[in-house]
Amino acid sequence: IERLTSTKGAMMMKRTVIRGTGRYVPPRLVTNDDLSQWMDTSDEWIRQRTGIEQRYWVPEEGGVGSSDLGLEASKIALQRAGWAPEDLDLIIFATLSPDLFFPGCGCIMQHKLGLAATPALDIRQQCTGFLYGLTTADAYIRSGLANRILLVGAEVHSTGLDISTAGRDVAVIFGDGAGAVCLESLESNEPIGVLGSALHADGKFANSLMVEVGSSRLNPRISHELIDEGRHYPVMDGKAIFKLAVQKLPEVVIEVLKKAGLDLEAVDLLIPHQANLRINQFFAHSMKLPEEKVFNNIQRYGNTTAASIPIAFDEALEMNRIGDGSTVVFLGLGAGLTWGAVVARLGP
Ligand code: UT7
Repeated sequence: IERLTSTKGAMMMKRTVIRGTGRYVPPRLVTNDDLSQWMDTSDEWIRQRTGIEQRYWVPEEGGVGSSDLGLEASKIALQRAGWAPEDLDLIIFATLSPDLFFPGCGCIMQHKLGLAATPALDIRQQCTGFLYGLTTADAYIRSGLANRILLVGAEVHSTGLDISTAGRDVAVIFGDGAGAVCLESLESNEPIGVLGSALHADGKFANSLMVEVGSSRLNPRISHELIDEGRHYPVMDGKAIFKLAVQKLPEVVIEVLKKAGLDLEAVDLLIPHQANLRINQFFAHSMKLPEEKVFNNIQRYGNTTAASIPIAFDEALEMNRIGDGSTVVFLGLGAGLTWGAVVARLGP
């Protein structure tokens, strides 16, 4: 009880504060012109429809999984937080492209960090994986179940794409990469750290963006016929997802700000999932936000799904677009269908 009360006797609240961030992308740069050598596409089409100019992919020879990219981003985040892996109470790993079908990447990366008993939880919420992970971490911290959590979003898309004209609508969008954040419990009555969260899902749209082969509903889960039909590649109803994104993202941002008791004017930077520059421009326009209030880096990384928000967050900090005292909103929509937003105030 003593620990939970301040000197003035008021109840101190447990809050989730961000202590360190990191990002990592593999060194193989793939430009739009590179892609147009392998499929019928063009730099012009990709830039106009998506804003993407380049992305990074893992080496062609393979052997690099999402846990490897996540590990590199995590090492940077841990070092910036001044933590050793042993300080962690929990690892949360968000990915749609795990190293193995099972077990999850959290376990695999935990071992690579040199740990042997720290719990590891995988999140399978695709483009909103970071938002679901951050909200889960916040719940663990507020309930006292954990004090120090490493949250990672990492993807290796390139080894699962149809790099031919048949797969061009999907293949040109995705990039590989990882982002990580260290989250810590702080007892404070100040509005600091995670201030609010709004998460949603609508499974009606599950087939609008999916990968089928390897799944339990197929018997056998994999066969030559399935492969010949190309059902091991992601399929996406791009137009439907685009329309849902421009409708749901403004709604969920208004919802999360209301929950946190904040006005849009109080927000210094909105960090959206990087699915398509045009989606984020539509979003900014419908919220009547000036361009500089919405962070975009899809031009350089493509869509890295669960990694895109933490990569953007780390880059925005590095560019001094935000810092201690800034209020940020993370938001996104993607496969599931899932969508959501989290508002946080950064602080020492
Ligand atoms: O993060 C996960 C969530 N995913 C998203 O948020 C994706 C949201 N959707 C999108 O970003 C867009 O729908 C895409 C970028 C995927 C596609 O853009 P679009 O403006 O909706 O194009 P479209 O699918 O309507 O295709 C227009 C034309 C078609 O040709 P026809 O039928 O008009 O002759 C496509 O076959 O463009 C063609 N096309 C391409 N052409 C050159 C499709 N992909 C390509 C390509 N290069 N890569």
